[in-house]
Amino acid sequence: EQSLAADDIARLTRWADDFPEPGVRFADLTPVFADAKAFRDIIAAMVAVGSEADLVAGIDARGFLIGGGVALALDAGVLAVRKAGKLPPPVRSQSYDLEYGSATLEVPADGIELHGRRVLVIDDVLATGGTLRATAELLTAAGAEVVGIAVVLEIAALGGRDRLAEYPVTSLLQV
Ligand code: PRP
Ligand code: MG
Repeated sequence: EQSLAADDIARLTRWADDFPEPGVRFADLTPVFADAKAFRDIIAAMVAVGSEADLVAGIDARGFLIGGGVALALDAGVLAVRKAGKLPPPVRSQSYDLEYGSATLEVPADGIELHGRRVLVIDDVLATGGTLRATAELLTAAGAEVVGIAVVLEIAALGGRDRLAEYPVTSLLQV
């Protein structure tokens, strides 16, 4: 079953070969988010799968765009999961391997109580699953419950869903 937004996502995604590294095919969803109907349909689909969440975690950077919209519609809070070095200490960190290289994600270690929060995690693309897995582990280690993971586009051949088997994963278009 494809989502209402699937056709628009397929039509509007900008594919870039050999970016940011040779051999990687990068899905740029910028034109998808710039389309009012596509953006609205994406938010609506994620609201439907995240109804039990009280916090929406959007991953740096395009997850912020969707996460803010979904949080507003759910009457939930929003949490920006940042790339390393953007937040003042103390922080909780989780490193992970990317399709190319490695990276670290961070959230504040004080000032926000994550224990017992029911979190919907959002990003633009699911590829190898490393980014979402690191985020889910980071939030779980802080005592939160990851009640769902939602992405706009899933690159199924990279097997990311298998690395997220403990969590309900929703993607609005699979390619
Ligand atoms: C892209 C994309 C996802 C991630 C998916 O982000 O936005 O976050 O890759 O890949 P994975 O499933 O293999 O982890 P990227 O790390 O390229 O950085 P960006 O979001 O800052 O562009
Ligand atoms: Mg990303």
